[in-house]
Amino acid sequence: MKNIPYIDLHCHVDGAITPEIARKLAELQNIELPADDEELAAKLSVPETCESLNEFLECFALPGSLMQTKEGIIETFYLVEEHMKSLGVVYLELRIAPQKHCDGGLTQEGVIQACLEGIKRSNLHTNLILCLMRDRGNEKENMETIELAKKYLVKDGGVVAVDLAGAEALFHTDEFTSPFAKAKEYGIPFTIHAGEADGAKSVKDALDFGAARIGHGVRTKEDPAVLEYVIKHKIPLEMCPNSNRQTKSVDDMSKYPLKEYLAKGVKVTINTDDPAICRTNIAREFDYIEKKFGITLEEKKTMLLNAADAAFSDDATKAELKKAIESAF
Ligand code: ADE
Ligand code: ZN
Repeated sequence: MKNIPYIDLHCHVDGAITPEIARKLAELQNIELPADDEELAAKLSVPETCESLNEFLECFALPGSLMQTKEGIIETFYLVEEHMKSLGVVYLELRIAPQKHCDGGLTQEGVIQACLEGIKRSNLHTNLILCLMRDRGNEKENMETIELAKKYLVKDGGVVAVDLAGAEALFHTDEFTSPFAKAKEYGIPFTIHAGEADGAKSVKDALDFGAARIGHGVRTKEDPAVLEYVIKHKIPLEMCPNSNRQTKSVDDMSKYPLKEYLAKGVKVTINTDDPAICRTNIAREFDYIEKKFGITLEEKKTMLLNAADAAFSDDATKAELKKAIESAF
């Protein structure tokens, strides 16, 4: 078999900063990091004792601090993309919440421009998803992200969609009606993290807003009617097994519904979420599901074809990706 052409549709760029990348970013920006490699690795990844998504999200402080300047952001995108390319990724959607990168004086627009410059520097086919953040008191920042997404939106080769990230159990999806009504009005495609730390109602709310895809969606099955909707309307789920294991999206991985969703015809895709934080990569995710759940080669191919179809990209790109997948299997 040829090399698998991997597709990663759900990857937060600040969750993809490996210790090696962090050292390069720190050197570029004169930022001091722990000299000890083990200490640095521990600060850039989630402990095995992690109990929840809330705890998991605390791991983003250090990587976030390396992405507060134009140069830092450009270099992060370049280095993350080069790393992904070396692992066999052929199409990548990277996500970032611009409002989290304004501590050093950048505007959200400046952040987006830096991301696009970084993307241009690498030749890996990459698109950008802008995240709104689950929080309170940031309504203005979320709306600004929507307006900027409208301004920069393209079919391929730049900003292609928006998302909602952050603590789903603390800030419920139904609190974010306004920004997604605007996204819909503007014709901006969107995915929403849902059914990860909160239940099927969160997935239903995201679908009611008009989400084209669901980030994670692990808990969709808690309401059979919502699962039925996802199947009937071919809504892709961006599943991220090791992230879901670490955030305790399911309390026991033997109950992880991957096989069940595939058997029911759900358009499942496999992604990394935060590969450095989760100490994983896309190839390891596929190995993990093969060993843990007995996922077959045919099922792997199906999930990659699902990812090609679900990409926030143009038809030519999807066709090219599908051709590469067909010829690899
Ligand atoms: N930001 C980074 N990873 C996330 C996740 N798994 N859920 C919500 N927000 C996130
Ligand atoms: Zn995510």
